[in-house]
Amino acid sequence: MIAVYPGSFDPITNGHIDIILRSCMIFSKVIVAVANNSEKKGLFTPEERVEMIKETFHDNPKIEVDRFNGLLVKYVRERDIRVIIRGLRAVSDFEYEFQMALMNKKLWKEVETVFMMSSENNMYVSSRIVKEIFSLGGCVKDLVPENVRMRLEKKFKEIRG
Ligand code: PNS
Repeated sequence: MIAVYPGSFDPITNGHIDIILRSCMIFSKVIVAVANNSEKKGLFTPEERVEMIKETFHDNPKIEVDRFNGLLVKYVRERDIRVIIRGLRAVSDFEYEFQMALMNKKLWKEVETVFMMSSENNMYVSSRIVKEIFSLGGCVKDLVPENVRMRLEKKFKEIRG
């Protein structure tokens, strides 16, 4: 069975990677789908986010990387995918995730959201925190893969001139 793992991935973190690799043990294929969310202006462009994910999983044939516009349910429906994977960290994630899962189900009743608990060491990792730590000169070595760390370095050099 094919599953989609959607998100902003601005940028991909070790928390996302953990969920993706564990999902690969359950599903025959995992499509990592980057949302082209025009409302949420990110640090990286959607193209750059896709590139970073592709670099990370270049040797894993079970993982496909894609982008989608608009509603997630529209995308999964068009591709005939019935499973959405989402990771859950602390209790604070729950309310938003619960609302999204119910709303997606309302929009298309065939779709199921499968939640995967974050592993203990990734409990506090998020893209937002990674960007904040990096921008303030902190070490992100244990939070993102090396290719992403290098991209962060390049991006902040560009921004800061
Ligand atoms: O990594 P994120 O930011 O938590 O991912 C959220 C994402 C991209 C999965 C969510 O915002 C989404 O599905 N966006 C697409 C638009 C959509 O379908 N919105 C209605 C959700 S109920």
